[in-house]
Amino acid sequence: MPVNYENATFYSVEELSQPTNIPIRELKNFVDHAVQTNLQPKDIQGIPHINKHDLDILFESFFLFKGIPDDREYKIPDYLNNCTSHWATTLIKMYSNKINFPAAVSPEQGEFLKSIVCNIDPNNILEIGCFTGISTIWMAAGLEQIASQATIHAVDLFNEILPWLPHRYGYLSDPLDYAQACALSAQLSHRIKFHKMNSLEMGKRFNELINQPIDFLFIDGDHTKEGCMSDFMNFYPFVSKGGYIMLHDIYPEDCGWDGPRYVIDEWISKNANLGLVEIKTSPCNFGMALIRKLV
Ligand SMILES: C[S@@+](CC[C@H](N)C(=O)[O-])C[C@H]1O[C@@H](n2cnc3c(N)ncnc32)[C@H](O)[C@@H]1O
Repeated sequence: MPVNYENATFYSVEELSQPTNIPIRELKNFVDHAVQTNLQPKDIQGIPHINKHDLDILFESFFLFKGIPDDREYKIPDYLNNCTSHWATTLIKMYSNKINFPAAVSPEQGEFLKSIVCNIDPNNILEIGCFTGISTIWMAAGLEQIASQATIHAVDLFNEILPWLPHRYGYLSDPLDYAQACALSAQLSHRIKFHKMNSLEMGKRFNELINQPIDFLFIDGDHTKEGCMSDFMNFYPFVSKGGYIMLHDIYPEDCGWDGPRYVIDEWISKNANLGLVEIKTSPCNFGMALIRKLV
């Protein structure tokens, strides 16, 4: 547990080691010798602690020291760079924030999501796992393009984001605040309702919080076998007949997660009431699956 000390929050090196996937000894050694980094670790009961506001400096200087190249962002395609809509300029800014690489959908996958939304014209979208809202803004831009009245319900734990190599590189203390500010700057906040909660809770409170069949369900939350299966099973009954479900990160060998693949192999591909197409993705082939609920 982080320690509150003199009105600030401090993390011990041990605490930071696990979520960041950096071995304790390596991190401690770095902190102990980080004389040129402006880091001022505090000795609390003999253990070095880092102020929450210094985490960015810690990780940036650590990556520099380790020689991890500073090229951790998606390439922005020209059409997006040339687009002057608020949603596009906001997305470009979000993509330039290292926190969003590679956890958020790439511009190519985002464009695909937007295009699907424009084509199926859903009355309702539920997104499980919106992270900082990049995929949400892509889908909301699709709704805006077709002048739809639909709402996107975007669910996430919105926990503080710590680097976790190689899945995340930056630090963000309040992802909900960031996502809301980005939706506002994209001029799309009227289309998005963010829910800070566990998807399990959303499943239990679905009738209270949404109470409408879901025409497009985007599952990109807990990527473990149990978590992904539970999201699929909990929300599948709420999908309308003819409605669509999208799974992200279906190729474990590229994305490093096996949950979505497990749900496809163990359940979706064996179910005659579901249509399935797997989609290769670039630049990273994390893969997406589009599923249709046929009956
Ligand atoms: C890969 S990120 C989602 C990326 C996002 N869809 C995008 O493309 O920008 C996975 C997200 O799922 C969230 N998550 C994981 N388990 C969850 C749960 N049980 N309930 C709600 N959100 C969860 C995490 O907090 C994280 O933000």
